[in-house]
Amino acid sequence: MVTPDEAVTPLIRGITVLRELTEADGTLSLSGLERATRLARSTVDRITATLARMGYVRVDGRDVHLSPRLMELGNAYLAALRLPALLAARADALADELDESVSLAVADRDGIRFIHQATRRRAMSLSFRIGDLLPAERTAPGPLFATEWTATDWQRWRERRAADPRDLSFTAVPPRKYGADARDDEMFVSRTQEAAANGWALDDQLIEPGLVAVSVPVRSPHAVGDHRPPACVASVVSHTSRHTAHSLRTTLLPRLQAAVTQMEQELDRTPPPPPGTPPTNLALWTGASKQRLGRDFIESLARGLTVLTAFGEGRPELTLTEVAQATGLARATARRALITYEHLDLVTPTGDRTFALTPRVLSLGFPPLSRTTLPDIAHPHLSDLTSRIHESTSLAVLSESGEEIQYTARVATGRVMSVNITLGTRLPAYATALGRVLLADRTIGQAPLPHDLRPLTPHTITDKQRLTHTLTSVRSQGYALVDEELEEGLRSIAVPIRDRSGRVVAALNTAMHASRHSLRECVTDLLPELTATATRIESDLHTATRFTHVP
Ligand code: PHB
Repeated sequence: MVTPDEAVTPLIRGITVLRELTEADGTLSLSGLERATRLARSTVDRITATLARMGYVRVDGRDVHLSPRLMELGNAYLAALRLPALLAARADALADELDESVSLAVADRDGIRFIHQATRRRAMSLSFRIGDLLPAERTAPGPLFATEWTATDWQRWRERRAADPRDLSFTAVPPRKYGADARDDEMFVSRTQEAAANGWALDDQLIEPGLVAVSVPVRSPHAVGDHRPPACVASVVSHTSRHTAHSLRTTLLPRLQAAVTQMEQELDRTPPPPPGTPPTNLALWTGASKQRLGRDFIESLARGLTVLTAFGEGRPELTLTEVAQATGLARATARRALITYEHLDLVTPTGDRTFALTPRVLSLGFPPLSRTTLPDIAHPHLSDLTSRIHESTSLAVLSESGEEIQYTARVATGRVMSVNITLGTRLPAYATALGRVLLADRTIGQAPLPHDLRPLTPHTITDKQRLTHTLTSVRSQGYALVDEELEEGLRSIAVPIRDRSGRVVAALNTAMHASRHSLRECVTDLLPELTATATRIESDLHTATRFTHVP
C-alpha cells in the first residue's frame, strides 16, 4: 500500500522499531535494530533516545530493551475494548474449574489475537501470550470469526495464503513444514460452514502436534440487524495427553458454553462506563523534552505516540477534535498522526467521523512484556539506585509461612558484606528491615507474628509485644530501619512496594556496614532515594498488571 503524503515518517519509523523489538522478544542490540529496520544508525539512535525518554525502551550499553511502561499503549486498547475487564474473571474461574488453559481472542483481519490468557503451565505444549497473532485457519476461534467475513475478507485471506504459504509472518506459531495447498484452504472453508451451523469449532492439532482446542463465540450485546456478531471467542486449550479433540467436545464444550452464557449476560447487563480521564499535558511534556534533549528527541514521534493514549476506558471512539483535546496537540498534528495510524492499521475509522484503536496496537510490545515478572521490572531501577547511592540494593518477598524473606532481585556494589546474599537467599523476617516492611502490612489482617524470635545479636527484638509495637510504627512511618539486629555491624533500611490495590507485595532495601551511614543519614539521605525508586517500580508494576498477572 502506498504511504499517504500526510503520514508522519518518524512515527512510522518509531512504530517499526517497537515492532521489531517485539518480534525479537523484547531485546535487540542497536546494530541488530539497524539491520532489522533497515534504518540508518543515526536514525535508530535518535528513535531509541526518544523512546527511552518516553520510558518505552531502556538502552543498556548496546542493547535496547522494551520497558513495562510501553504496555500503556496496549492497555489503552484493552481498556477501550472493555472485554478483559468484564470477562477475564470468568475465564480465570473456568480455567480453575477445568484445570485447563482458557483464552479470549478477538478477530484481527484474517488472524486472531489473544486479549486474555488464563494459562495452566504445562510441559509439552507451547502457550500463547496476550497480543500474539495466529493465522485464523490454524485455530479454533478462526472459523467462528470467518463466519462474518465478506467476499473481500475471503479474498484478502486467499492472497495472504498465497503470499505466505508457510505462515512465516506469524512469528508466534511454528512455520508449516510444507506450504499449504488448495486442500488446506478448502478445509478452512468447510470448517467455517460447520462453525456457522454448530456455534462452536475445534482445533485438532493445527498449530502443533498435541495442541487441541475448542471454541465458542461470545456474542456482542449490539445486534447488527437481527444478528449478534462475536465480540470475542472463548477457548479451552488442552493437550492430547489429556484430551482428544473429540473428548474436548463431549466433556468440556458444555461447560465452556455455560461459562460463555454467563459472559454474554455480563456484557448485556453492564452499562458503558463514563469516559475516563485522558492523560494530561502530554504536549507540554514533549515540548519540554525537546528543549532538554535537542536533536536527539524526535518530537513528532513522541507526539504521535501520545495519540494512542487518548483512547481508553469509556473512550473507545474519539473524533479528531476529542483526540486533539485529550492530548493537547494541535488539530493538524493529531490529524496527521491519525492518518499515519490508519495507514499502519493501528487505528480504524468507525461511524461518524470517529476513530478507534485496533487489536494490532497489542503488537507494540505486549506479548513479551505480558510475561514480565516483578524482579524483571525492579532490576533496572535497583541498578539506577545502586549507582546513585553506592550501596547494594535488593528486593524481597515474604515466604508463604511468613517466617522468612526471600531475595528476588539484587544489585550489589563491589564491597564485601559479611552476610552473603544471593538471589533466593532466605533470612528471618522479624530481624530484617525487608521483613518488617512485609510483616507490617500483613499484621493489619491480624496474621500471627513469626514464632521463633531468637536473638541473633544482642540488639535483636525478641519480645512479641515490642515487635508488634515496632511493626505499627513501620506501618505509620512507611519504612523500616533495622540496626545490627541480624548481624553486628549491619544496618538496613527498607520501604514497601504496593500493588494496584495497595497491598504490599515486596520490599526494597539497601543494606550497609554500620560505619558507612549513621542512622540519621539513613533517613535523611537514603530514604528519599529508596522512596523515589519504589514509586518508579510501582508505576511500572501498576501499568504491567492492569490486564496481566505479574508473578
Ligand atoms: C490458546 O489459547 O492458546 C489457543 C486457543 C485456540 C487455539 C489454539 C490455541 O485454536
